[in-house]
Amino acid sequence: MMGFPEKFLWGGATAANQCEGAWNVDGRGLANVDLAPTGKDRRAVLTGEQKMLDFDEAHYYPAKEGIDMYHRYKEDIRLFGEMGFKVYRMSIAWTRIFPRGDEEEPNEQGLEFYENLFSECHKYGIEPLVTISHFDCPMHLVNTYGGWKNRQMISFFEKYSRVLFERFNGLVKYWLTFNEINMILHAPFMGAGVYFEPEDDQEKIKYQAAHHELVASALVTKLAHEINPEYQIGCMLAGGDTYPMTCDPKDVWQAKIEDRSNYFFTDVHVRGYYPAYAVKELERKGIFPETQPEDMELLNKYPVDFISFSYYASRCASADPEISKLTDGNVLASLKNPYLKASEWGWQIDPLGFRITLNTLYDRYQKPLFVVENGLGALDVPDEKGCVMDDYRIDYLRAHIQAMKEAVVLDGVDLLGYTTWGPIDLVSAGTGEMSKRYGFIYVDRDDQGNGTLNRSKKKSFDWYKKVIASNGEDL
Ligand code: BG6
Repeated sequence: MMGFPEKFLWGGATAANQCEGAWNVDGRGLANVDLAPTGKDRRAVLTGEQKMLDFDEAHYYPAKEGIDMYHRYKEDIRLFGEMGFKVYRMSIAWTRIFPRGDEEEPNEQGLEFYENLFSECHKYGIEPLVTISHFDCPMHLVNTYGGWKNRQMISFFEKYSRVLFERFNGLVKYWLTFNEINMILHAPFMGAGVYFEPEDDQEKIKYQAAHHELVASALVTKLAHEINPEYQIGCMLAGGDTYPMTCDPKDVWQAKIEDRSNYFFTDVHVRGYYPAYAVKELERKGIFPETQPEDMELLNKYPVDFISFSYYASRCASADPEISKLTDGNVLASLKNPYLKASEWGWQIDPLGFRITLNTLYDRYQKPLFVVENGLGALDVPDEKGCVMDDYRIDYLRAHIQAMKEAVVLDGVDLLGYTTWGPIDLVSAGTGEMSKRYGFIYVDRDDQGNGTLNRSKKKSFDWYKKVIASNGEDL
């Protein structure tokens, strides 16, 4: 069996709010995700059910310090370089560039920070892959405009993107507009800076916000290509196909409905129009997103160049409400699949599902794909020598890389690259914990914020280095 393409982009992925910390340093403003605490209230905050408009004494907010990558990025990128990364996916904190979001002029200190970070990457031959918005929205825009439910967000985002495309021209080539854009339907405060009042029609607001993000994404795709025709712009989906619980056609139909609620976002991004099934479903629900005459033309004329997605698990659906028990931990709800084992956080482990999902996306769009998140969140316990022997992580990644290879080599999927989630331990988006670790690099910090923040290599560090050096041959 032949292997991965010669220029395959191996690397890792992080998000600003989960690793940078330094939440109020060098002019940075307050962001929605800063206000997501650890503990039982986190989910209600992320879904917009519970308002958290400022820090309070009763909660601990892990994004404030993250893993302090803001001050330690040189050490971290050096370690990525040592593993042989070809690409580093990271995100820009909107509030470092526009602390409130609606200023006229950007914050120079924020721009300099990323400029230095990108130069550091290039020192090691690492290509940055930049997410413009990774669960990230200035709180001033939330408080004053209501986040993405307000159409004005499109122009704030356009201005922010323009600054990035112009300033980082020559340093960055690959961009993603919105991380896991379909998450807006499940965690709208996290995905779009939207929270709800009791009288709100939540479904309607979510689709209005989604429409604004989709139009914004098309608009900045246009802008990017005007500024530099070489720029490659991708959308980003929380991926993972849904299986029917049984071969009962009702279950098959239910799985299709659930898949469509996710693929709606890539359908618009790639095909450039609202698919018929979505138009009809929204009509039936009495949801008619407000649009401007130019919106449909923008969507149509400026599709993305490639499709990126995260894959952690497949999902499972049933039409029978009786058996609809949720798995623990997943933000996207799923039934337990009896054929699969699960992680300590209840995320089901399904490497073949990865190959299936890669094939679904490629069959559907015939455009290049990029896997920008995959990995195992696990409890790592350093041994008496202080070393984490994470064979379970190696096993997970080995099986997934093997499945990905089969999709490329046996099925002909056009794949640009693969970045594992959290190559260095960072704050969990779903739970806010540090103890849900994904890294090849251990960070000494616990769920309460204790620890030296020192970095050390886990067993998987050398393993991934070998995988990259052999272009995925030596697993
Ligand atoms: C994706 C996000 O949903 O999954 C990341 O894009 C997130 O931000 C990752 O960290 C893993 O989820 P969690 O909840 O384990 O951090």
